Amino acid sequence: MSRPLVSVVGAGQVGATTAHLLVLKGLADVVLIDVVDGLARGKALDLLQAAATEGLEARVTGTTDYAAVAGSRVVVITAGLARKPGMSRDDLLLANAGIVGPIAAQVARHAPGAVLIVVTNPLDVMAALALKRTGFPRQRVLGMAGMLDSGRLRAFIAERLQVSPASVHAMVLGSHGDLMVSLKSSITVGGQPISARLSADEIDRLIARTRDGGAEIVSLLKTSSAYYAPASGVVQMVQAILKDEHAVLPVSVWLEGEYGLNDVCIGVPAELAASGLVRVVEQPLAPEEQQALARAAQQVREGIATVLAAPVKK
Ligand code: LAC
Repeated sequence: MSRPLVSVVGAGQVGATTAHLLVLKGLADVVLIDVVDGLARGKALDLLQAAATEGLEARVTGTTDYAAVAGSRVVVITAGLARKPGMSRDDLLLANAGIVGPIAAQVARHAPGAVLIVVTNPLDVMAALALKRTGFPRQRVLGMAGMLDSGRLRAFIAERLQVSPASVHAMVLGSHGDLMVSLKSSITVGGQPISARLSADEIDRLIARTRDGGAEIVSLLKTSSAYYAPASGVVQMVQAILKDEHAVLPVSVWLEGEYGLNDVCIGVPAELAASGLVRVVEQPLAPEEQQALARAAQQVREGIATVLAAPVKK
C-alpha cells in the first residue's frame, strides 16, 4: 500500500516527536531534514527500527538535503531556536525568521504543491513569513498553535472536573502568546456551558494557566520547550489534510476580511481538508473577544513588518 509522504524540517524534539507519531499512527512515510549533519539520519534510522519493532510498515529517511521534500503532500517546519527560561516567544523573532524564511523558499522550490504547516515560534509571524517566502496561496500555509493552546485548556478543565478531555470543548484563538484569546463563552463540558460547573474566577485561572502553559513547561525543563503536545497538534492537522476530513480546528491562517481582519496570520477556526484550508469559520464572538482578537492581530502585524523589513538571507 502506498502511503503519502510527509516531510518534517527540523529534527529536534518537536520534529522527531511529530515523525514518531506519524509513523505510529500509520499516517505517512516520513522524510526528516535537519542542517545538523547526522541528526536527521540518526533519528530516521531509530524511527525506522521503532516501526519494525511495532510491526508497522513505514519508510523513514533522514537527510540534510531539502530536495528530499519533493513529492510531499505536507511539509512541517519545526526548525528554529526554542525558548530558554525567561524568554518570550517574540525574543526569537529575528533569529527564527532567518531560519524559517530560507527553508520556506526551499520548500516552494522542491515541493511546490505541498501544504505547509509552520510550528516555529513566534508562530503567527513565522506562518506569515512562510506565506510570503513560498508565494503559496493562503490555503496551503497553516500555523499550528491553536491546537496546542486549546489542548492545554481542555486538559486543565478535564483534570479539574475529573471528566474525559474528549467531553470538553474549547477553542483558543488569536496569537500564540500572551494575547491568545480563549473563547470563554463557547467552552462546554458534555454540551453544558462551563459556567454551570466552575466559577468565573476558576475559569479565569485555568485560562491564565493556559496562556502561560508554554512558559510553565520551559521553566521546568530548563533546556527545552514543550514537544509532546505541540507534535500532537501538528499530527491532528496533518491527519485532517491526508484524510480529507473537513475538520474545523483552531489554525493560524492569513485572513482576508474574516473576523474583520486583514494582512495577518492569526488563529481562527479553520476547516481543513486535502487542499489545506477550505474556509475560515466565522462564529459569533462577544465584543471583548473580538477586541482581544484585533489586539493580537495588531501585535502580530508589527512582528510581520519587522521580519519583512529584515534583509533576506538566501
Ligand atoms: C509552547 C511553545 C513551544 O507553547 O510555544 O509550548
